[in-house]
Amino acid sequence: MVYLGIDIGSLSCDAVIIDSGGRILAWTVVPTGAKNLEAIERARREVVTMVGIEPEAIAAVVSTGYGRDRVADRLSSVTEISCHARGIIALLPGTQLVVDIGGQDSKAIRLGEAGRVVDFAMNDKCAAGTGRFLEVMARVLEVDIGQLGELDSSARESLTLSSTCTVFAESEVVSAIADGAELSEIVSGIHRAIARRTVALAKRVAPNLTDLKVAMSGGVARNKGVVRALGRALEVSISVPPEPDIVGALGAALIARDKATRAS
Ligand SMILES: Nc1ncnc2c1ncn2[C@@H]1O[C@H](COP(=O)(O)OP(=O)(O)OP(=O)(O)O)[C@@H](O)[C@H]1O
Ligand SMILES: [Mg+2]
Repeated sequence: MVYLGIDIGSLSCDAVIIDSGGRILAWTVVPTGAKNLEAIERARREVVTMVGIEPEAIAAVVSTGYGRDRVADRLSSVTEISCHARGIIALLPGTQLVVDIGGQDSKAIRLGEAGRVVDFAMNDKCAAGTGRFLEVMARVLEVDIGQLGELDSSARESLTLSSTCTVFAESEVVSAIADGAELSEIVSGIHRAIARRTVALAKRVAPNLTDLKVAMSGGVARNKGVVRALGRALEVSISVPPEPDIVGALGAALIARDKATRAS
């Protein structure tokens, strides 16, 4: 038996197929774009082809993400909170706090015994502290989003951005460029600004972070500069699974397996 999890996020549509032992057989990340039904079909087609099965061979589908109700044949749709929690516990057992930073929102999820969700906090009202903030800044700096982590690692200084608002912070970055600041210094300042926002979010669910096992999920966890800045700001070491953007889809696939097994 195989099970499919699909996470339809604001920027990426991620699909994971697992077997009944929970092993990942295939995964993909495709852009969500303006037509999310097409993205869902593409992601599903890709993973089905990778595994080499007929689409009908999938025993159950669970969807998550902001577009989760767009998956017509789902067994159920589940919140991203539950899916990121489930996915991270499978990849990094013992995690007590998971921070998911995606394109449009960021979340801090506190996990208790056996990966149970104890509390969570979410920022979905404002671009600051999300991947959107990084996208805006990368565009202003004329660099690829994937280069930010490396640029940060060569920084000797770090710009201090005083604005929390994305629009005002963008003006500060434009001024810094005009003043001749080093690219790496600006990038480091951008990552520290994201980290500052995320610390506030994390502290809402885990006021005392000492000795907590902390992990990151979501596409922004691919940016090593953000992971480093957040680790420093929280004074903890942060674990990141090899493919952080598929954590939600993996969680959805595991929930699909559990629900289908319970129902049979
Ligand atoms: N290769 C990469 N290097 C660095 N950062 C990346 C890379 N790929 C994606 N990102 C970051 O990940 C973000 C998207 O994350 P993700 O795919 O988790 O979003 P999403 O799930 O679609 O959004 P949301 O959960 O908010 O609806 C981008 O905004 C970007 O900042
Ligand atoms: Mg997401």
